[in-house]
Amino acid sequence: MRSTSLQRRLGLKHPIVAAPMFLISNKEMIVAAAEAGILGTMPSLNARTPELLRADLAWVRQRTDRPFGINLTIGLTAPERLEQDFELCREFKVPVLLTSYGNPTSWVQRAHAEGMVVFHDVISVGHGKKAVAAGVDGVIAVAAGAGGHAGRISPFVLYPWLKEELRVPILAAGCISDGRQVVASLALGADLCYVGTRFIASTECGAVERYKQMVVDSGPEDIVYTDQVSGIHANFLKATLPSEGFDAERSAEGAKRWRDIWSAGQGVGLIHDVKPLGTIVDDMMSEAQGVFGGLDAPG
Ligand SMILES: Cc1cc2nc3c(=O)[nH]c(=O)nc-3n(C[C@H](O)[C@H](O)[C@H](O)COP(=O)(O)O)c2cc1C
Repeated sequence: MRSTSLQRRLGLKHPIVAAPMFLISNKEMIVAAAEAGILGTMPSLNARTPELLRADLAWVRQRTDRPFGINLTIGLTAPERLEQDFELCREFKVPVLLTSYGNPTSWVQRAHAEGMVVFHDVISVGHGKKAVAAGVDGVIAVAAGAGGHAGRISPFVLYPWLKEELRVPILAAGCISDGRQVVASLALGADLCYVGTRFIASTECGAVERYKQMVVDSGPEDIVYTDQVSGIHANFLKATLPSEGFDAERSAEGAKRWRDIWSAGQGVGLIHDVKPLGTIVDDMMSEAQGVFGGLDAPG
């Protein structure tokens, strides 16, 4: 398998991003991802305060000089905190900024002035056009079935459609749990695979063991797509949703809810074990190589 140009630009061995996951991605995953040759990331808010984010960034910088990314949830974060987190990304020369839930224009300009690469989350071509107008280096195409806040469009259509319409690099997000889906995503025009749910079941992930095991034990039918947890549609493990339903003040307690109600995508169906992040990547890529070789062989 040849490397994609975006992969080469970022200096990655494999075309995979360990996608940011609220509350559960951590600095250990960033370093394990760097060692595995992929791009590790986390939301800045996973460090509860800017001081803790500073400590995390210093910890990562001491352990690797390979690229990594920080996610700023621009539309959901208090402006003061956002400013402090961006300033830390600048100070620590974070190579990749991932923006989600808002208009990225001013952040793209500021990040580019610091030499950062910026990718923005989109679920539609309308979102995608705004992101391209803002000058992003690529769009994260969040398909139906993805963990976290997911879109409604099948990955079969979303990636090639956005590629055709936007003509910028595409990061394929949604239901990539094994090597077959890596090859399929690249075949559909993706430049990188943006993988969340598979890495919940990694040794390094900050999720509690019961959460990891539930990801291993669940199938796609155990996933519910609802806006009742935070006001924006996202995928959750059905068993963790309150059986009595939700009260009216849903978004006010968003963070607390994500702590108790666990998000995962339909890709749970193909996750069979908890193992080190580096082993997940090696297994995914050797399966991808095998599938790719098989496609080349005459029928
Ligand atoms: C538990 C969980 C939390 C997430 N939190 C965030 C987040 O804070 N910011 C963000 O941009 N995306 C978030 N996402 C979405 C992921 O970055 C990524 O788009 C998604 O996991 C890809 O789909 P997959 O889970 O099917 O691999 C989250 C996903 C999960 C599963």
